[in-house]
Amino acid sequence: MKILVTGCNGLLGQKLVELLTSKPDHYLIATAKSRLIPTLLQGEFHLLDITDRSEVNEVLSKTKPDVVINASAYNFVDQAELEPEKAFAVNKTGPENLAKATAELNIPSGVKVRIILDNQDDTPEEFDSHALNREKHVPPKSRVTLFIGPLDPGRYLFEGETSESRGNAALGVLVVQ
Ligand SMILES: NC(=O)c1ccc[n+]([C@@H]2O[C@H](COP(=O)([O-])OP(=O)(O)OC[C@H]3O[C@@H](n4cnc5c(N)ncnc54)[C@H](OP(=O)(O)O)[C@@H]3O)[C@@H](O)[C@H]2O)c1
Repeated sequence: MKILVTGCNGLLGQKLVELLTSKPDHYLIATAKSRLIPTLLQGEFHLLDITDRSEVNEVLSKTKPDVVINASAYNFVDQAELEPEKAFAVNKTGPENLAKATAELNIPSGVKVRIILDNQDDTPEEFDSHALNREKHVPPKSRVTLFIGPLDPGRYLFEGETSESRGNAALGVLVVQ
């Protein structure tokens, strides 16, 4: 199994690197915001700031892990009140970026599929994919049906971005096998 760990220089991250490098059944993709401190005996290393959405997408698309463990954190509890933006960036936006980039929808190749876009939000959303050459507007609190395919095997990135929801775009990958 390919396991990607974020924040590998932290206390938890270092322990995970130590543990996973000793497990021959797993392949470790170690990541950290800055240069990796522990010795990486097996696997690979990438720089990854989890608050940077495009960096998260790039590293996850490139490494294609089966599992992501987020060991990054803003841990300065008292300081968090003085710099809430930093705390929210690492503890909220970062995990959100990881969750969105790992949201996979698996569909078979060579067949046409129906996807139901369910916008539970009270702001408009948009299904947008350059890879699929598709755009679909989804009004607030409504469902829209989208027919896709037949597609060749591969990974097709999609996101949701409207002027109202910019910066809070849903994102995922359509995995065609
Ligand atoms: N340690 C424990 O005993 C313990 C126990 C229970 C739960 N936990 C939980 O485990 C998690 C990690 O805790 P920890 O003790 O390992 O914390 P830590 O030693 O402070 O490590 C946190 C790591 O997160 C990294 N980081 C900060 N911002 C980042 C970003 N934007 N992108 C990528 N990495 C970033 C830091 O890198 P830099 O050093 O480069 O800033 C640091 O290496 C927390 O959620 C904590 O609550 C820990």
